[in-house]
Amino acid sequence: MRVPPVRVPGGRVSRKGFLKVGGSALAGAALLGVAGCGGSGNQNSSGATEFTFSFGPDNSGSLEEIVRRFNKKFEGRYRANYRVMAADTGQYFNQVKTEFQAGGGEIDLIGGDVVWPAQFAANGWIEDLSDRFTEEDRKAFLPAPVESCTYEGAVYGVPWFTDAGMLYYRKDLLDNAGFSDPPKTWEELKEQATKITGESDAEDGFVFQAAEYEGGTVNGLEYIWTHGGDVLAGQDLNDVIIDGTQAIAGLSTERSMVESGVAPRAVSTYTEQECQAAFLNGRAVFCRNWPYMYALAGEQGQSNIGPDQVGVASLPVAAGQEESFSGLGGWNFYLNATSSEEEKDAAYEFVKFATSPEQQKYRALNGSFLPTLEELYDDEKLVEKVPVIDLGESAIKNARPRPLSPYYSDMSLVMAEQFNACVKGSKSPKEAANTLDDRLQEIVDQAS
Ligand code: GLC
Repeated sequence: MRVPPVRVPGGRVSRKGFLKVGGSALAGAALLGVAGCGGSGNQNSSGATEFTFSFGPDNSGSLEEIVRRFNKKFEGRYRANYRVMAADTGQYFNQVKTEFQAGGGEIDLIGGDVVWPAQFAANGWIEDLSDRFTEEDRKAFLPAPVESCTYEGAVYGVPWFTDAGMLYYRKDLLDNAGFSDPPKTWEELKEQATKITGESDAEDGFVFQAAEYEGGTVNGLEYIWTHGGDVLAGQDLNDVIIDGTQAIAGLSTERSMVESGVAPRAVSTYTEQECQAAFLNGRAVFCRNWPYMYALAGEQGQSNIGPDQVGVASLPVAAGQEESFSGLGGWNFYLNATSSEEEKDAAYEFVKFATSPEQQKYRALNGSFLPTLEELYDDEKLVEKVPVIDLGESAIKNARPRPLSPYYSDMSLVMAEQFNACVKGSKSPKEAANTLDDRLQEIVDQAS
């Protein structure tokens, strides 16, 4: 439900402004909940327009630095207040959704996942940015992240950083075991992992995200895609094909990682954080993760292994598959449609600042976040310092989006549940695929 901004003589005030102008009696019970959320007012005592910017916690510290730089540059004009949200994208999504449903909430600028815009846009919760983020502006950005911001022909976000699933491996351990290259197929990964764990101190062959959450959905999809399967047929959002032979083969490979002992049983509870800990403390030989992990290798307090011990490759595929696919991840900026024009303008200044070449380069160097601006992939110095960018460029070209549907969050909950059941062994791959076929079809049928 969209709560439209309230017009008053002399201009347009935001939902928050409305609360201030009208008081709680006018605002109604549903809005009282958001009034207590904290956050910013429109203008602070120095006359600067304040706005609230939300994003999850940032291990690299580079985001706080960007906020600091912005506030310094625009002192007296704009002020960004960073509100730290849940690290888990699904929990963060629910927090924001709840605020929108209660009338708009306190957040003006959302650093949000690439899978959110369809649902937010369909509900009218986020601003159509097609005019601010012009066609000309968009040309400088990688096409896939721009596509992730697009819903029914309009653009609702500005790509901030992009993500693709990658295979991290211990270069030193592979070398010692006589493997000159990382595995190209999932079977090779199992062979290499089994040999290396047998000969070295590393206990876990492979760790990946198989917990019941959004990351588990992405990992399950990657197994399906790298076996030639899919969830929906092509661009058709109504035709569920997840019970096909290839999709089932993908889920069988995922399950076999645990059955064969290559992955620990506990992967069924692993998110990015547990995988990162296992790999960076030297316990695991292989790890599926996003580019951000590269920057943490060698960081004091975060890692026992150095960057020279870390190799990065495309995700393996099933034997006979030519191309590797990974899930397209990443984060974009979205504006709350119910914020005031002043807040939107101020927040958009932050968007321009944070997506500028200089700041994207800073985040790439200090957090290995993959840039969304094409030109940075030609920056030789940057690529040399952050080699994951090189692989990232090809990985992004081969990255597949999750379905761009307003019902994606419902679809994902079901996928996360069934993929997880399959990894735990409480359902066979075929049973999980059949359940998914029925339940996803119900969701897409409701949507059409
Ligand atoms: C990363 C990706 C995001 C994905 C999430 C899953 O943050 O960028 O798109 O949904 O991981 O955990």
